[in-house]
Amino acid sequence: MEQTLILIKPDGVKRKLSGKILSRFEDKGMKVVAMKMLILSKKEAEKHYAVHKDKPFFNGLVSYIISGPIVAAILEGTNCISITRTLCGSTDGSKAQPGTIRGDFSMGIEKNIIHASDSVESFQYEWPIYFSREEIIEYSSGDEELIF
Ligand code: TYD
Repeated sequence: MEQTLILIKPDGVKRKLSGKILSRFEDKGMKVVAMKMLILSKKEAEKHYAVHKDKPFFNGLVSYIISGPIVAAILEGTNCISITRTLCGSTDGSKAQPGTIRGDFSMGIEKNIIHASDSVESFQYEWPIYFSREEIIEYSSGDEELIF
């Protein structure tokens, strides 16, 4: 079963959208196997977004992601990396399709509500920034045969 990391970014938390956003993934059939609220340090944020360190938006992105609490969660489900990205919508909220999280809740490219790992490699790089292995909980939701 595949896993992915999502972050509800500071704009999502401050706008009290955390519950609605998590519901989208749970309603689709994904299982939350780890979750916490935290404020990232600058060092952690720079590590998470290291792939963008030479981009013009890097400093603004880091300042924004550390500007308030975020909710980090690991979701589990078949193909959940690509399905989660589809539910999030395009990076730029002003262009994202209605019905997606960004399409419904974001009007910008920086304050775009949610992060989701874009590949298995990204997930493997990202999750240890947020969780220890012990914080990922294996359990059966009992409804797998109804979903997959
Ligand atoms: P990216 O990995 O391209 O997008 P996604 O989050 O959809 O995987 O970019 C990471 C974040 O960087 C993105 O969520 C918002 C921010 N960003 C900007 O602020 N300006 C930009 O021009 C781009 C491309 C991204």
